[in-house]
Amino acid sequence: MSQLTHIWKHNPSQVNSNDVAAFTRQWRQQAARWNLTERVLGEVDGEPLTLYRSANDDIALPHRLLAAGFHGEEPAGVWGMLAFLQNNQPEHFEHLCLSFLPLINTRGFSYGQRFNSQNRDVNRGYLVQHILTNEGQILMNNAVLLRRAAADGALTSHEDVTSQRGYVYTYEQHAEPGQFSRALRDVMGQHFPLETASMADGYPCQDAIIFNQTDDSFESWLFAQGVPRVACTETPGQCDFDARVVANAALIKHFIEIPAAD
Ligand code: NI
Repeated sequence: MSQLTHIWKHNPSQVNSNDVAAFTRQWRQQAARWNLTERVLGEVDGEPLTLYRSANDDIALPHRLLAAGFHGEEPAGVWGMLAFLQNNQPEHFEHLCLSFLPLINTRGFSYGQRFNSQNRDVNRGYLVQHILTNEGQILMNNAVLLRRAAADGALTSHEDVTSQRGYVYTYEQHAEPGQFSRALRDVMGQHFPLETASMADGYPCQDAIIFNQTDDSFESWLFAQGVPRVACTETPGQCDFDARVVANAALIKHFIEIPAAD
């Protein structure tokens, strides 16, 4: 099965969106500036899958996990996470323990293609089928670590290459979307038109929110593990790339700045 290739120009860096070396070089500069500790969770096709974490991981601090790059044709999430680090000051976030998985599927990213080298979806196999990709197996080998890293919430940064409108998947321990869901959706709406259809990505969607949707994704797994709030943001891949990077950085910042859960 051949895959469509999606590559854009990342104008701030003057590189293409699939430039792993340029991304990694800039990410590591920021990781040093933020004093993040680096932990290689595993390796796929010779590429490390690395977790970066606040140096202060005192158990009393709210712990939040951010992840990007599950799907290789959705690079604005990856670059948006970098932009968040570049554009913010680490001393403003010392009251949190932040963990970052900036690039899950390096192979897909480098090809500008959705799937990994197994030609499989890295965001499936966590909860329903239990048939994991190489990358997913590494995440599940570190399930306890990641569950703790997400104790106060998790955000994964995705895109929908078929869409001109933004939307979010959210999970909350309520029957209806609460402030967490609505506020994140509203940040998306500050950057792009919001999805108005009653279905998005094959799921029921209301006011641009796909809510508490059980599926085979990493997000659904985190929520099932008891993480109190989880979101997957979907910037519209049909829109301007640099605007999508800016939006992802804003979504990440918003998520990081929300008050701690009770
Ligand atoms: Ni995706």
